[in-house]
Amino acid sequence: MLVLGIESSCDETAAAVVDDNKQLLSSVVYSQSEHQVFGGVVPEIAARAHLEKAPAVIQKALDKANVCFQDLSAVAASAGPGLIGGVIVGVMMAKAIAAVHHLPFIAINHLEAHALTVRLTEEVDFPYLLLLTSGGHCQILIAEGIGRFTKLGETLDDAAGEAFDKAAKMMGIDYPGGPEIERYALKGDPQRFELPRPMVGKPGCDLSFSGLKTALRWTIESFSADGQVEHAQLTEQDKADLCACFQNAVLQTLCSRLKNGIKIFKKKYPEAKHLVVAGGVAANKALRQDLESLVKKYKLTLAAAPINLCTDNGAMVAWAGMEHLQAGLSDPLDFSPRPRWPLDPSCKK
Ligand code: KG4
Ligand code: ZN
Repeated sequence: MLVLGIESSCDETAAAVVDDNKQLLSSVVYSQSEHQVFGGVVPEIAARAHLEKAPAVIQKALDKANVCFQDLSAVAASAGPGLIGGVIVGVMMAKAIAAVHHLPFIAINHLEAHALTVRLTEEVDFPYLLLLTSGGHCQILIAEGIGRFTKLGETLDDAAGEAFDKAAKMMGIDYPGGPEIERYALKGDPQRFELPRPMVGKPGCDLSFSGLKTALRWTIESFSADGQVEHAQLTEQDKADLCACFQNAVLQTLCSRLKNGIKIFKKKYPEAKHLVVAGGVAANKALRQDLESLVKKYKLTLAAAPINLCTDNGAMVAWAGMEHLQAGLSDPLDFSPRPRWPLDPSCKK
């Protein structure tokens, strides 16, 4: 079986083909650079860029996999949550391909695609504890099966990736901020500035990053003659130290909240083996190291997709599509894209 996956929910236009032997036959990602000057994604520009780029990206994914539409078993698209203009583009293209070539259409929850990617590249069985941390989401869940997730906690304000991006913008560092902050942090002193660790020590698994972001803003403002963050005079070493302190605070917060999650998870599933980290922030190597040390204490194993499959891509959608297809699941062509679509069906948000 072959599944084509299309991703267009944020600023990556991507397509990929996987087979049922877990072979990734192709993966093409066009990262929209159009947003860089704005320091964040502009939804309208993103939707137009998806519309322009998607046909060529899809064709390239088929060519690289050496297949044509007629060879496919199904076509899957990220159908939410996300920036709705872009989501509509990907979903409409997938539906058109499905209609013309008489293929099943599969509407994939973008968060589920992140959550399942690790099962394409590693042997990870359900149930597993999941830290899902990206630009738009930051949640701790138990993954119990396809379409079966129980949320233990989530951010009350910013997502971790969003906090990285906003922190970078304050320091005059390019978008997307996460990878740049990680690079700077390697050369920085994580002890130089004192920053808070939000929610640490409280029960439960909810997270928060807005207070940390404000504390960082105050620290940066102290480098500015007029108190304006935009006028801060930061040397490269100041930036590196700020990045190291900020990254450390985010990582310690995530690990501390996960500790509570692990205890709940182990109580419910004492035999389960894995903590999975997924989403764009999972590309952060320092986070992976910290999580490795954390899971060892609890006799769990850390599992994560390769770095290039952590940020948005088509392979995660194609693989989630394959898992749905194998479970006998597909969707009608009148499926409406969903700007909001919680992974845990009992949650309204
Ligand atoms: O999953 P993703 O590509 O898109 C969403 O679904 O949101 O995640 C993008 C987010 C951005 O906020 C980006 O700054 C963050 O992931 N990110 C990182 C790293 N690479 C990407 N954050 C920290 N460290 C990284 N190496
Ligand atoms: Zn994503």
